[in-house]
Amino acid sequence: MSFTKEEYQKQYEGYYEELEEGGSGGADFKRSQGYYDLPIKGGFKEGMSLLDYGCGWGAMCAGLDVEDYYGVDIVPHAIELAKKHFPNKKFDVLETGKLKCEPKDFCIALSVFTHCLLQDVDDCLKDISTHTTKGALIDILEGSDEKSDLHIRYWNKEEFIKKLKEFGFNYVDEFKVTGQYDYVHTYLILNK
Ligand SMILES: C[S@@+](CC[C@H](N)C(=O)[O-])C[C@H]1O[C@@H](n2cnc3c(N)ncnc32)[C@H](O)[C@@H]1O
Repeated sequence: MSFTKEEYQKQYEGYYEELEEGGSGGADFKRSQGYYDLPIKGGFKEGMSLLDYGCGWGAMCAGLDVEDYYGVDIVPHAIELAKKHFPNKKFDVLETGKLKCEPKDFCIALSVFTHCLLQDVDDCLKDISTHTTKGALIDILEGSDEKSDLHIRYWNKEEFIKKLKEFGFNYVDEFKVTGQYDYVHTYLILNK
């Protein structure tokens, strides 16, 4: 299934407005889900620089203090919120495929490829790959693409890993987390 960028961004504007009123993507909820432990479980180490690709409202900054952090997202309202909540951290609105920053040691793209538009996937991976030097943590939902809709995207894991390899990432390991609404997220631990 394919959707336009406009349709996609509109649904996220709504999501981030709800969040400001205390939605389920808030920091307390994320803490209860073990969200702030994910980067470390995925290979991120203290002292590394971090690219948070598809950072949303910058939630990771509420639970993990990284000095050299850079968050990017395609939804301008999300980046406005991130800057408001974390004025000492660096965030920018992203045009997919046109990321410009100093490469970071590690990248997290959390719940991004579970939602991302199919037509954006290669550009996202290009952005991530060319701006990450050591490793990355990326989660997917495993299943048939036929089940995908505007909000949720499913992947054949082997195909996704093959794609990652084309962009220079090696599969190291994985772990699974059952998140909100009982979706089972597969977190792929990657290095270069
Ligand atoms: C479910 S939210 C997750 C936000 C954040 N990573 C977190 O874990 O809370 C998915 C995010 O991915 C972003 N996203 C989707 N497609 C993207 C793309 N092509 N480039 C960058 N970000 C994208 C959305 O705008 C949204 O903020």
